[in-house]
Amino acid sequence: MSLKPLLEYYRDLGVKELYRSQPVLPSLEIPAMPASIPLPGLAPENDSFELIRADIGDCRRCRLCEGRNKIVFGSGSPQAKLVFVGEAPGQDEDLQGLPFVGRAGQLLTQMINNTASKEGIAITRDDVYIANVAKCRPPENRAPLPDEMEICGQFLARQLEVLKPKAICALGGTSAKALLGLKDGVTKMRGNWYKWRDFPVMVTYHPSYLLRAYNVEAKREAWEDLKKVLHFVYD
Ligand code: URA
Repeated sequence: MSLKPLLEYYRDLGVKELYRSQPVLPSLEIPAMPASIPLPGLAPENDSFELIRADIGDCRRCRLCEGRNKIVFGSGSPQAKLVFVGEAPGQDEDLQGLPFVGRAGQLLTQMINNTASKEGIAITRDDVYIANVAKCRPPENRAPLPDEMEICGQFLARQLEVLKPKAICALGGTSAKALLGLKDGVTKMRGNWYKWRDFPVMVTYHPSYLLRAYNVEAKREAWEDLKKVLHFVYD
């Protein structure tokens, strides 16, 4: 089949974006099963956000660079005591270059601001830091693959070491797996404390999961998890 009818076929199916399947790094094999990876990190002495951003540059270390518009480094306070770690940018984040600015992001903002305010904790989203395991949007919003998480995870590890937060909140299974290397599902892990290096990690549901209407109980649980983490950090 030549390219034109194939593209028309995809268009009729409603597929708006296509990605080349050829990996940018052909030597990297994609394991058949996603595996848990602990985040590596070879940070230079006197590391800083400026150095990390400069090292990322116009990154072409993995195939995700092919479909991205903007690298989503992270946002929030450089003095943050609490860091939220999501999975990877979605469409809105990819266009704006900022994490959690789409529907899931709006829910996360509400959750942080409203829970803090109800609990008498004087912070808003601007006082925390928000980043993702992968800094580029995966095609069709799939989860980042193990090699993508490993390549990008070194920068997240450096960001966390620079911030030295009092706690990290892992949003969803991908983030929990990347940070903790555990195979348990998020339902089992949520609400509990773990450690990444010396930093306490609370696992909770990803806001995208909470947006699904039937997740009333999960929403309640996520609010409980957030209360726990906010009191731990700010009391
Ligand atoms: N989902 C994520 O995991 N991260 C974002 O930045 C947006 C949506």
